[in-house]
Amino acid sequence: MRIVRTFADCRSLVIRSTGLVPTLGFVHEGHLDLMSRCRRENDLVISSLFVNPLQFNDPADFDAYPRKFDRDAGLMEEAGVDVLFAPSLEEMYPTEPVTAVVVKGITEFMEGAHRPGHFEGVATVVTKLLAGIQPDRAYFGKKDAQQLTMVTRMVGDLSMPVEIVPCSTVREADGLALSSRNVRLSDEARRLAVGLSRGLFHAADLVALGERDGAVIEQAVVDQLAGMSPEYVTLADRFSAETIARLDRPAFLAAALEVGGVRLIDNVWLEPDGSSDLGRCLEETSILHWEER
Ligand code: PAJ
Repeated sequence: MRIVRTFADCRSLVIRSTGLVPTLGFVHEGHLDLMSRCRRENDLVISSLFVNPLQFNDPADFDAYPRKFDRDAGLMEEAGVDVLFAPSLEEMYPTEPVTAVVVKGITEFMEGAHRPGHFEGVATVVTKLLAGIQPDRAYFGKKDAQQLTMVTRMVGDLSMPVEIVPCSTVREADGLALSSRNVRLSDEARRLAVGLSRGLFHAADLVALGERDGAVIEQAVVDQLAGMSPEYVTLADRFSAETIARLDRPAFLAAALEVGGVRLIDNVWLEPDGSSDLGRCLEETSILHWEER
């Protein structure tokens, strides 16, 4: 028998908590980390798998998105997911939508500037998932820092009764952030791609040594890219996603790089006291590269 002494504790024994992990599928260890954490923190774990056409600004990218339902369902079950919510297009959009969720400011630069309409599509589908499932908590990766900032602000602005839980980035053994796009990299592009995380780690090292100047921190990333030009390298405020000139508040240092025709994004979370969250590296080959799955 458990003895509790507050109303909140008492209620929590009666009301089952529900956690949600939204995904586009083609699950990797980054997604699985979100699901494991959701499993630890909730009674009921729901993960959604829906390749949302609204957020793909390029229809060819939508068509090419890897879809491996049985593989994903198996991995989710192993991670402790109770309910896999895999709606059809008709279930999500039964009629032509005339309503969209627009988050201002945050979505205008970095990913927003390079992918018109993308964040509106994400904000709209996340709102539909939160409204339709009504979870107590929803888990999002720091890997997509701008998306996480947008969702957190949106939930606050619209008084949605859900806690957004940020989860650290999971990386391949050499540091490259896990992404379903990694499987499209040629050997040569894969070798170059690691410069992105290496640059971000190098910048975090400088911050730990006392550097706070945004331009110097950003340049440290560019210096590790072996002559490749990133689409952007930005030190951004974690609350507004606006560029900041000095690391004087919670921030993320984000970069985007196209290598061998594959567009990669990555970031590290930096604190004004010099500490950082770089995420964690796998010790073994990612399940992304297991042919048999
Ligand atoms: P997707 O790219 O499938 O990512 C699902 C979730 O996993 C997101 O919260 C993302 O930030 C997180 N994630 C992806 N790679 C990660 C990594 N290497 N480490 C940790 N977390 C990682 O993001 C989306 O889908 C969609 O925009 C979605 C939110 C589902 C809306 O359609």
